[in-house]
Amino acid sequence: MEEISAKTQMAKIRTYEKGFMATHLVNLGAKLGIFEALNENKKGLTVPILASKLGIHEPYLRIWCQTAYHFEILDGDEEGRYTLQPYLDEILGDKNHFRNYLANIAMDVDLIGDGFTKAPGAFRTGRPLDIYQSPEFSELAYEPTTNIALAFLFMIFPKHENLKLMLEKGISFLDIGCGNGSLIIQLAQAFGNSRFVGIGPDANGIKSARSTISELEMEDRVSVNHLGGEKLEYKDEFEMVSMVVTLHEIPPALREKVVKKAYKALKPQGYLLVLDFPYPSKLEDFRNPIYNYGILDQFYEICAGRVHLTIEQQNQLLTASGFTDIQRWPVGRGMFDFITATK
Ligand SMILES: C[S@@+](CC[C@H](N)C(=O)[O-])C[C@H]1O[C@@H](n2cnc3c(N)ncnc32)[C@H](O)[C@@H]1O
Repeated sequence: MEEISAKTQMAKIRTYEKGFMATHLVNLGAKLGIFEALNENKKGLTVPILASKLGIHEPYLRIWCQTAYHFEILDGDEEGRYTLQPYLDEILGDKNHFRNYLANIAMDVDLIGDGFTKAPGAFRTGRPLDIYQSPEFSELAYEPTTNIALAFLFMIFPKHENLKLMLEKGISFLDIGCGNGSLIIQLAQAFGNSRFVGIGPDANGIKSARSTISELEMEDRVSVNHLGGEKLEYKDEFEMVSMVVTLHEIPPALREKVVKKAYKALKPQGYLLVLDFPYPSKLEDFRNPIYNYGILDQFYEICAGRVHLTIEQQNQLLTASGFTDIQRWPVGRGMFDFITATK
């Protein structure tokens, strides 16, 4: 490792600053439609053509393209055509690609960035910021998890055949914190014999779930309720209950109540499935790259009043609620832990 000096420390801080600028550049490029246009024109486009196609002021666009070239997001040829670097057509270009990352970038810049400008007040008072409860936030917040069902279908179920077989055979499945219903809707499409219920306290998410369910004419097998998990009244009704990227978002004061309600809702021997960020319990692990996602998520979410749980806290919570046989596996190179527990 290079010895620490004023020079290396300055370089480190400059790298963070550069990352900030690059993130804004990507968000701006997405809003202007530049990535979409370059994705549709794999051979590349010159600045004048791109400018007239997208209605962008040419001198500004030239600066954007040159800067994107500097960040190694774009390549350029001798005829002045710019192209997306390899694989960035998937990550930044094609919005339907499962690797597309633009929703995360938009959330970072448009909402979390806004939150950070108000963060000093929240840090002083400990009072969560309203913007994280807004309909705009709810809309943007579900975009990054739109494809979470793919993680279940292609990463989790192949390693947990028993769960997949149960779903194929036909079970009742409850998703606590269903957001806009994207998980249960996609699971219902994949498992035609099972019935799905989603609940959550976010009225906007539930409204959007209802309209998708009705558009897809799935009302006979998929339903949603506008309800916090702490208010659930089911008893011995579901073979599986899930909490997907939700456990850490439940207010700490309600968390135990929600997990107990999940336990009650499950049939005996039923499974609780939790997918969530792992969070370090030891200081040295805050430099372990495995925890990257959880650490960054917690950093902005603290101003929303959300508190991530360490492995020990998760286990303790589940055990205190009656669950046994708690098992966990990393998913997506440590981005998430997939946890199962039995009633
Ligand atoms: C990051 S979102 C994940 C949504 C969804 N599971 C997905 O994967 O797209 C976290 C969800 O937790 C929900 N939530 C917060 N408090 C809750 C509570 N008390 N009971 C149930 N869900 C809750 C929020 O409304 C939000 O939809």
